[in-house]
Amino acid sequence: MTRLTGKSALITGAARGIGRGFAEAYIAEGATVAIGDLNLEAARKTATELGDAAYAVQMDVSDQSSIDAALAAVVAKTGKLDILINNAALFDAAETVDITRASYDRLYAVNVAGTLFTLQAAARQMIAQGHGGKIINMASQAGRRGEPLVMVYCSTKAAVISITQSAGLDLIRHGINVNAIAPGVVDGDHWEHVVSMFARLEGKKPGQKKAEVAASVPAGRFAVPADLAGMAVFLASSDADYIVSQTYNVDGGQWMS
Ligand SMILES: NC(=O)c1ccc[n+]([C@@H]2O[C@H](COP(=O)([O-])OP(=O)(O)OC[C@H]3O[C@@H](n4cnc5c(N)ncnc54)[C@H](O)[C@@H]3O)[C@@H](O)[C@H]2O)c1
Repeated sequence: MTRLTGKSALITGAARGIGRGFAEAYIAEGATVAIGDLNLEAARKTATELGDAAYAVQMDVSDQSSIDAALAAVVAKTGKLDILINNAALFDAAETVDITRASYDRLYAVNVAGTLFTLQAAARQMIAQGHGGKIINMASQAGRRGEPLVMVYCSTKAAVISITQSAGLDLIRHGINVNAIAPGVVDGDHWEHVVSMFARLEGKKPGQKKAEVAASVPAGRFAVPADLAGMAVFLASSDADYIVSQTYNVDGGQWMS
């Protein structure tokens, strides 16, 4: 299939995990993909592994000048930007009484401000081009409801769902579709980090926590990035031209809305 032939995409946080999976899927559909990541070395390695249609762009989504430089690098390389996936995010967990301002500030800077201002920079570029575009934000089931040890992360993902709604309503008049994906639990480096935090907070062995989480998913297992790729391709394609401000659950049946 080549549903994204000729398209120029930027995926933030694509050096590994879900973002890397999206990059692979977009390249298979004919797109050229900027692997935007804080970790330039990892982004370069990933881009090399994904082949000629991928290239690395160093970016820190919590830094406006870095966002602007990354957008400029994409336009310099491909002449345009058609698709943005706001995928980069940080996770933290703590009891309510132990949440620190440093953790709060960092998660909001990356997950919320990073999403909003990268979306803004992409929208400005797409409006200037005059041909619309697709923006996909990574939400989470964590944005659908709170969790006792995950207040800050959950609230950032609720903010991503809200940003998706407002931006989508504003930008559709320019032909820019803004939508979001809300995964459940997706195996990878991120989840290893999550499990080790819960192990400490709940006094459980990492293997025990992981088995409990997998058993709680109606589909009976963790997702892998490829489980989300179909939705990411669909939302970036012309098949999604009439879809505005939505957040889609791709979570093995964990949440219904
Ligand atoms: N893994 C899951 O279970 C899960 C579930 C629901 C939602 N999500 C969401 O999906 C997205 C991807 O998750 P993942 O598991 O692949 O994450 P990950 O931690 O494996 O990868 C995140 C990438 O983002 C990069 N990054 C971190 N801070 C950055 C910054 N300031 N600027 C640019 N890049 C930065 C990291 O270097 C890393 O390559 C995130 O938005 C996450 O919240 C993940």
